[in-house]
Amino acid sequence: MKKSVRAALAAALFCATAVSGAHAQQTFNNAVTGETLNLDDAMPEGRDTQAVKTFIESGENVYLGDKNCLAKGEQAFLAMCSGCHGQKAEGKLGPGLNDTHWTYPQGRTDKGLFEIIFGGAQGMMGPMHGAMTLDEMLLAMAWVRHLYKDDPAEAGEWLTADLAKDFKPYKGEPAPQPGADAPESCKIGG
Ligand code: HEC
Repeated sequence: MKKSVRAALAAALFCATAVSGAHAQQTFNNAVTGETLNLDDAMPEGRDTQAVKTFIESGENVYLGDKNCLAKGEQAFLAMCSGCHGQKAEGKLGPGLNDTHWTYPQGRTDKGLFEIIFGGAQGMMGPMHGAMTLDEMLLAMAWVRHLYKDDPAEAGEWLTADLAKDFKPYKGEPAPQPGADAPESCKIGG
């Protein structure tokens, strides 16, 4: 083997190790007390999907940009949230989640929205980590963002410039069904 090739291979190997060793992880905090949330409290299922891994490392919810995942997100929201927040997140016992107003400004980011869901807030808004998996939380969050009905320019940090290109305020249209290329966690009945 030529020296230069060997050097290049060694460099590539070094890079691969460096990247896989660098598991940056976000710190998540309780929205009310600021206490660090312990992700080990999460349910054992639904922890190792690609979406969960990406989210824990970066705070980015990849389900937001994936139309295949909206129907599953709606299911999770209807099962776990709509009883208190309304069918369209318009607000009921708990506040509306489909507009610009947030009691907790954390709601403007996906990391913050997750912190409220996982760790809870006050009163009836208990922590959800014992009732739904991390993956289901991300799916429900994608549906909550989809239900946003106001001016995209006022939405908050969660609506990145990239997502905004495709985003339309919600008008009550049904969730599209997942296609054949849907990630495993977004398939209905799966
Ligand atoms: C048993 C009723 C109940 C359920 C179920 C529930 N919530 Fe809540 N939620 C509330 C109440 C009440 C509040 C207000 C709490 C506060 O102000 O501290 C709240 C607050 C919130 C907030 C903060 C809103 C803001 O304006 O800052 C978010 C986000 C939220 N809920 C999301 C969810 C999601 C997503 C689900 C489902 C996974 C869910 N909730 C399930 C009752 C509920």
